[in-house]
Amino acid sequence: MVEQESSNTPNEDFLNQLKRTKFWDAMDICNWEGFWFEPGLVKSALTFQKTFEAQSDDVVLASTIKTGTTWLKALCLCILEKNSDTNNNVDILEKECPQFQVPTIESLMYVTKPSPDVYSQPSPRLFHTHLPFSVLPESIKKSNCKIVYIARNPKDTLVSLWHFFNTIFRPDQEPYPLEKAVENFCNGVQQYGPFYEHVLQYYLESRKRPEKILFLKYEDLQRDPRGEVKKLASFLGKNMGEKEVDKVLWRCSLERLKNLEVNKNGSVLHAVPNSSYFRLGVVGDWKNYLTPEMEDRINETTSLKLDGFGLHF
Ligand code: A3P
Repeated sequence: MVEQESSNTPNEDFLNQLKRTKFWDAMDICNWEGFWFEPGLVKSALTFQKTFEAQSDDVVLASTIKTGTTWLKALCLCILEKNSDTNNNVDILEKECPQFQVPTIESLMYVTKPSPDVYSQPSPRLFHTHLPFSVLPESIKKSNCKIVYIARNPKDTLVSLWHFFNTIFRPDQEPYPLEKAVENFCNGVQQYGPFYEHVLQYYLESRKRPEKILFLKYEDLQRDPRGEVKKLASFLGKNMGEKEVDKVLWRCSLERLKNLEVNKNGSVLHAVPNSSYFRLGVVGDWKNYLTPEMEDRINETTSLKLDGFGLHF
């Protein structure tokens, strides 16, 4: 790895030496430690690496993009009763989008200048990161803090990502050609990609240390929401009864969140509208978009990358 400045900010030479390409002809991305990021995110990731001191009761949510992050954020906010205003009977999900309430650390540092004190909040602190496991701050890996990762099947992730970036980058244009999006996805060239290595890193780590990392799948949450939320709550040290679980599920349901005023009209980061985080939320939506050839291309890549490790979607 190239030498960096001793301060918390990497020098521009370091960033300039990283391999670069464009994502969807729209966004510059560079390859750092085997993954693709906007250059500004590398800077904040390095600052995060150098400055974050994990506490043993921290909860760190992790995911690559479009795998159910917003849902996981909402669920953990409710389970941990974070930012709650129970005295006034106010549901915090009605006040701000979960994306705002649980900051994605490296994105928040990137867009907010000067950086706010993103680390200070009452314990247990709840954070989110899209960073791969390999580049997490050492203190997260070594301390007793917990990590919850959410994964999703690659075909639905790709279709979700295609809708999302069409909304962000091409609101008034034709959608980006889907076959090109499939190629990028399979080649790993996208923000926080490659998808497969990202998922695999957390999966393998969760197999080694199940008490530290809970590996959830979006499809399991859809299939057995009660069972999965109970599992999540118990991992976070909360034993929840049926009624509490049902209430959390209702508060966090896609239909409800999607129709809250704050999510219909607000925006959080990079002027990304909150509404773009809530779309259809079904398993198997890829069948409405992918041709048999695209399906084969993704299936082959998935099998090549994941089968040997026993990870199946
Ligand atoms: P679709 O585009 O397939 O509908 P992320 O939060 O990681 O960006 O993932 C976004 C995906 O999660 C979108 O999938 C979105 O609709 C879905 N999603 C968001 N909130 C959800 C919720 N409360 N329940 C279920 N799915 C949700």
